[in-house]
Order: sequence, then structure tokens, then C-alpha cells
Amino acid sequence: MPRTQDDLLGLRAEFPSLESCTYLVSHSLGAMPRAAEERLASYAREWRELGNSAWNEGWWRLSWTLGDRIGQLLGAPPGSVVMQPNVTLAAAVFLSAVEFTKDRNRLVTTALNFPSLLYLFRGQSDRGAHVVEVPSDDGITIETERLLEAIDARTRIVAISHVLFRSSYRQDVEAIVTRARECGALVLLDVYQSAGTVPIDLAAAGVDAAMGGCLKWLCGGPGTAFLYVRPDLVDSLRPRMTGWFAHRDPFAFDTGPFEPAGGIGRFLHGTPAIPALRAAEAGIDVVTRAGIPSIRAKSVRLTSRILDRCAAEEWAVRTPREPNQRGGVVGVDPPHAYEVSRALIEERIFVDYRPGGGIRMAPHFYNEDAEVDHALDSISDILARESWKRFAEGREEVT
Ligand SMILES: Cc1ncc(COP(=O)(O)O)c(C=O)c1O
Repeated sequence: MPRTQDDLLGLRAEFPSLESCTYLVSHSLGAMPRAAEERLASYAREWRELGNSAWNEGWWRLSWTLGDRIGQLLGAPPGSVVMQPNVTLAAAVFLSAVEFTKDRNRLVTTALNFPSLLYLFRGQSDRGAHVVEVPSDDGITIETERLLEAIDARTRIVAISHVLFRSSYRQDVEAIVTRARECGALVLLDVYQSAGTVPIDLAAAGVDAAMGGCLKWLCGGPGTAFLYVRPDLVDSLRPRMTGWFAHRDPFAFDTGPFEPAGGIGRFLHGTPAIPALRAAEAGIDVVTRAGIPSIRAKSVRLTSRILDRCAAEEWAVRTPREPNQRGGVVGVDPPHAYEVSRALIEERIFVDYRPGGGIRMAPHFYNEDAEVDHALDSISDILARESWKRFAEGREEVT
């Protein structure tokens, strides 16, 4: 297991695509591990050679076994995490087990949550929920005090992101869970932008449920996400959004009243996407080898390097400067940020751009300091040579 930040570069060889680009977009899609190809090939072999019996040779249990592997990275005990197709559906399954009553009908969230989840949360009003969206003054942070004030005895559930996707602002989970507990409310935490880069101990934090996905910092490719539910809560919940994988005895094919399985399996529904689960194993392996504390230490160092350079160049940033308040991304917001991002991508410096978030740059454990410098030098160069202008045609000015 790597111990120092330099040791982490020893894992670079596991990611062949890093040789042909500057990869700073792991907050969106983690680089492909070499072993993912092998896992997909072995999936195809299993399908070809084992046929239907592949279900008994590991496919059926994959939703649990992979969930346990992810649980180890998140401080979740065995049997408390199960795989899901995506984060939006993971949240929907959990919410389908939550009752909104006349006296306890509030779903408290924030205006800076990922849009897909806001769409889902607002839809809960059809089930009697009163959705409270705590606003942001600066578009970067959510004032903790304001969020805590929004949680009261009418609150059924607080549904928030650990690290915000747009600004990488890290919310104070401890304070939020404490307040929710005092008020008798549940906490549903989106850890998509923290799992694999920012340490979190879900059990110690007392979070009731959490969901995240594998395709970003966990380098697992699209099609896999996960749901954690606090073990002592699981069996008291009955998801309405369910299916035969969640049945106590799925092979009875019973059409009588639904009997959910005991444990986290009751949050499953239909047949999982086995190829995606197999591909994701490779990323989870390599992130586990790297170790979250080492990944975080390197991330803080490289994101600080980006922030220092932004200060020197007088470029705006859309991410908090304080390391404890930020995740693994820096939103760099120089003049003409959108066009600059297009010019960077053309040079095979992979970043992305979000309105209000600027150019999102995310060094991960496999990146070299020189790659970060190369991306920042390229921004200076693109601005100095005005080569961003080519990308401005037919587009409103975005600053
Ligand atoms: C914090 C956060 N939550 C949720 C999502 C969306 O997840 P999914 O597409 O798996 O529903 C994203 C995707 O970028 C995200 O960054």
C-alpha cells in the first residue's frame, strides 16, 4: 500500500490513458484503470462459458460484495452498502421508504445540490413533502448556520451533498447530523464528490443513509452507484420502489403480498448491470491500494498549488481557499473561462466547465505536479495569445 504522495505515482502505470493526455477531470469521469479491460473481458468469458450458471458463480452476489468493498472506503460496516445503477435512483429508492406526515413533512436541502437530485426532491411534494431549499449568497458556499436553522421538529429528512459539485465546498456533516438528530430528522448524504478523495466515516458520523457513484474519484466507469443505510435503521424501512431482487425469497416468484429481504438487500429492485459492476471492481481495487488518507494529502497539496497560482495570476476562483472547506476540485475562473476550457480540451488537457463554477480542475492520486503546472501554464498562454477567441464564435460572452 502506498504510504507517501510520491509512492502514489507508482500507481500511474495502472492508467494507460495518462500517457497521451493531461487528465484533470476525475471529478467527472475517473481515468480508466488498465484492469477494467481485463474485468470486462472476464465478464464476457463468464457469460460465454458459464451461461446462466454465472448468476451462481458471483453475479447474483455482486451488488453486495462490491458494496462491501466500497463500504470499507467509507467507514460503513459489512452488509450496509448495496449497489445501485446511479445516484438519482439510489436516492429515489431510499426516499420511497420515507413517510411524510402532516406534522413531519419537511425535506430540507440546499440550492447548490446536484440538479438531478433537486428534481427528484421537488417531486416528493406530490407525496406530501414540503421541500425547503436553503439558498446560497455567493453561489459557492451554503452558510452552515442558515442550514441548521432550516432544520426543525417538522423536518423529516435533510438531504444534502457532502462536497458540492459546482464549487467543491465541503459541508459540515458533523454539525448537520447533530442538529438533525436533535430534531428527530434523518440525514441522506450525497458522497459522490467525496467518495475516493475526501475521507468520510459514515458510521462514526451517524449518517442515516448515503449514496454515491463509482465513475468519478473511484475510477469505476459509468453505470454503478451505491446506497448505504445505517444498519439499525434498515429493517424498519420498506422501500415502495422495489422489485424481485429485494424479495425475501426471489426464486419463489411469489405474487402474493411483498415480503422484503432482511438487511440492505431490501433496497435492490431489478436485475443489476453486471458488466458495469465488473468494470468498477478495478477502480475500487486501485483506490483501495492508494488509500484515502494519502489521496487526500496529495489532493490538498495539488489543489493548493492551483489556488496559489490563481492568486499570483489574479484569476478568480470559485472554490473555498480553506482546505477543510473544500473537496478535490478547484474552480478556476479566468476571463473567458468557457472558451479557455474549450482551448485546453483541444490541447488534450482534460478539464470541464460549469456555469458559475468556472473551469473545474481535479488532480487525483495519479497526477504529477508537472501536469498541474502544464495546465496552468496553458491557461496563461491561451489568454496571452488570445487563442480562446476561436471558441467564442456564435456564443454569448461568458466570464
Ligand atoms: C454530487 C453529485 N450528485 C449526483 C450526481 C448525479 O449522479 P447520477 O447521474 O448517478 O444520478 C452527480 C454527477 O455529477 C454529482 O456530482
